[in-house]
Amino acid sequence: MVSATSRHWAIIPAAGAGSRVGSITPKQYLPINDTTVIEASLYCFLKHPEIAGVVVALHEGDQHWATLSVAKNEKIHTVVGGKSRADSVNNAVEYLINTPADDTDFVLVHDAARPCLRYSDLELLISTLKTDEVGGVLASPVSDTLKLVKSKEQTVNTVSETLDRDKIWRAFTPQMFRLKLLKQALTHSKDKSIVITDEASAIEAINLQVKLVQGHSDNIKITHQEDLELAEVILKNQWR
Ligand code: C5P
Repeated sequence: MVSATSRHWAIIPAAGAGSRVGSITPKQYLPINDTTVIEASLYCFLKHPEIAGVVVALHEGDQHWATLSVAKNEKIHTVVGGKSRADSVNNAVEYLINTPADDTDFVLVHDAARPCLRYSDLELLISTLKTDEVGGVLASPVSDTLKLVKSKEQTVNTVSETLDRDKIWRAFTPQMFRLKLLKQALTHSKDKSIVITDEASAIEAINLQVKLVQGHSDNIKITHQEDLELAEVILKNQWR
């Protein structure tokens, strides 16, 4: 039975090095407009009244977090992250299980490197999945034609086939799942050595149905330098 009083918690994995941006500073700590990437990524969760608390997973040698004013926000808890994103999320899930959360509470995992999440999309995700037994993710249908390549080369590749784009969506974050199911799914992936790049993949691997809630495609993840430049423009044009 789904509890009508389930609370919502956020997990922000922020323990990555982000080396593809080409900066010594991890990408989540780079400046963006008048703030930093991670503070912009945290913004909607700190503002939303239904988010009971936010767990940020930090690299064990993190030198940046404590210098930010957001570090003092009373809604935020921190844990040490792990070797992979999944390990970092798992550490934060463990923290929630051992302290303030209940099994049927929801967890919303959001990349520290996704600063352009719209408040209205967060609201839509929470309200759409509120009574769902499993959960789901913000996503958007692709608009480009997609090619599958034969093998992954540096810059020039050979096409193996063209995919049916009508059935392909891009999965973003937040990814919102029941705490107990997410823990079960992450443990299963770890035990079976399944490499996962998002929480939805772990949930799929235990044969549960993941819902896709359509969000705006400007919820980009910063990976390369040009993503940062684009995110600056997107944020300037957003009403927050
Ligand atoms: O590297 P990638 O862009 O997939 O990272 C997505 C998010 O996962 C980032 O916010 C990054 O800081 C986080 N991460 C983490 N622990 C790791 C690797 C990545 O928390 N070991």
